Amino acid sequence: MTECAAVILAAGHGTRMKSRLAKVLHPLAGVPMLSYVLELIQTLKIEKNYVIVGHQAEAVSALVSEKASTPILQNPPLGTGDAVLQAKPSLQDFRGPVLILNGDTPLLRPQTIQRFLEAYKKAEARTGLLTVRLDQPAGYGRVIRNASGEISHIVEEKDASPDERSVNEVNTGVYLCDAAFLFEALDRIQPNNEQKEYYLTDVIGIAVSEGVPLIGVEADPEEVIGINSRADLANAERIIRNRINRYWMMEGVTLIDPGQTWIDAKVSIGRDTVLHPGVTLEGHTVIGEGVTIYPGRIRDSRIGDGALIKDHCVIDSSELASDVTIGPFAHLRPGTMIHKSAKVGNFVEVKKCVLGEGSKASHLSYLGDACIGKNVNIGAGTITCNYDGKNKFKTIIEDDVFIGSDTQLVAPVRVGKGALIAAGTTVTKDIPPDALALSRTKQENKADWVKRRAPKKNK
Ligand code: UD1
Ligand code: CA
Repeated sequence: MTECAAVILAAGHGTRMKSRLAKVLHPLAGVPMLSYVLELIQTLKIEKNYVIVGHQAEAVSALVSEKASTPILQNPPLGTGDAVLQAKPSLQDFRGPVLILNGDTPLLRPQTIQRFLEAYKKAEARTGLLTVRLDQPAGYGRVIRNASGEISHIVEEKDASPDERSVNEVNTGVYLCDAAFLFEALDRIQPNNEQKEYYLTDVIGIAVSEGVPLIGVEADPEEVIGINSRADLANAERIIRNRINRYWMMEGVTLIDPGQTWIDAKVSIGRDTVLHPGVTLEGHTVIGEGVTIYPGRIRDSRIGDGALIKDHCVIDSSELASDVTIGPFAHLRPGTMIHKSAKVGNFVEVKKCVLGEGSKASHLSYLGDACIGKNVNIGAGTITCNYDGKNKFKTIIEDDVFIGSDTQLVAPVRVGKGALIAAGTTVTKDIPPDALALSRTKQENKADWVKRRAPKKNK
């Protein structure tokens, strides 16, 4: 357990995102930005932790509670200093360092916080600041040092002189601060700045002027990106995706081109699976071992070992057993279950449907609200007519059925085990086991009819 408390700031408007969605809820690799910070706290086992919420407080609080943290309302948001002050009543009896994090800084690693804490303890500091040197420091508060190189204070870009702006050491927004000193100092800060806000950064200036021991620790620039704009968001997304891709390659997954493979944070993938360029794996997808996937999108689905997913398939909320073959150009919609060694071929749409072991729907079909047994052959152009404009109905196809091409199954309907449906049949009644069903008008051939028909008029 880490012996500090934590306060995460997540109440701000995120004005620069120009979004209806609160900034900290914007997803990165499919997961809200704030979740990364909450998971960091969990990894570090920081028991006393609070999240300051304000803008879209309800939605943000829901995420906070889901992640076993406690939201504290800041209303209105008057700046980062005012935000931390809201945690004062909750931390009244707490003696020790408070770790302060920004909800918009999701790339921090636990090792960095541990290193920061160790340095803080070793130096017997009562204030600590995580800083970073950036080639392009624009947008961040600058860390101003005195002639002997010690930190003197932080100046926000909006309040900085041209000289101060040229400083490339910036404030990451990550602090450690002795609880008693922190809340006492926060009570004294004033909104004397360009933005008329209570700046948390002023606590650093107070610490220096009052001789409270302060330590600065430098971090890796990649970890401390604060997300203020959509461009920052895209930058963070790229870094997170690189991390995820590197992780899966280390775990034995082949990514033919990691730059063109998009794996969400909560996806899991088995060994010897091969992902071709253009694969997107979203949500809580679980991929087995030895699976080969060509470009397409898979969301919230489970794919069994040895499956082959050919090009341009969309698979959503479906479950596929081992050794299935899907695609190219197949659409598996929510509620689909494909059993072992079954096959779904090109231009087949499947919805709320079970396809039994070894069954095949190889071409051009719509299979909706259907339960299909083992070793069934679904001919090209087979359609389950599951909807009468008002209600949906089920089609049941038992084992070993053979369905000829261009069959319509008007649901509700049941096809008995081993039955055979002739091509072009419209099935409106249940078919008993082993029966042949056929519903076509008999073909008539009229000899020489083409030659005998009236000649075309000249136009
Ligand atoms: C802040 C720091 C800046 C630092 C940067 C690092 C201040 C004054 N500035 O600037 O020195 O370089 O972070 O990324 O602290 N928030 C609240 N309540 C408020 C205002 C903000 O909870 O009243 C939250 C925001 O939701 C956000 C975090 O605090 O998660 C930081 O706020 P933001 O406006 O992004 O600060 P920066 O301008 O980035
Ligand atoms: Ca920020």
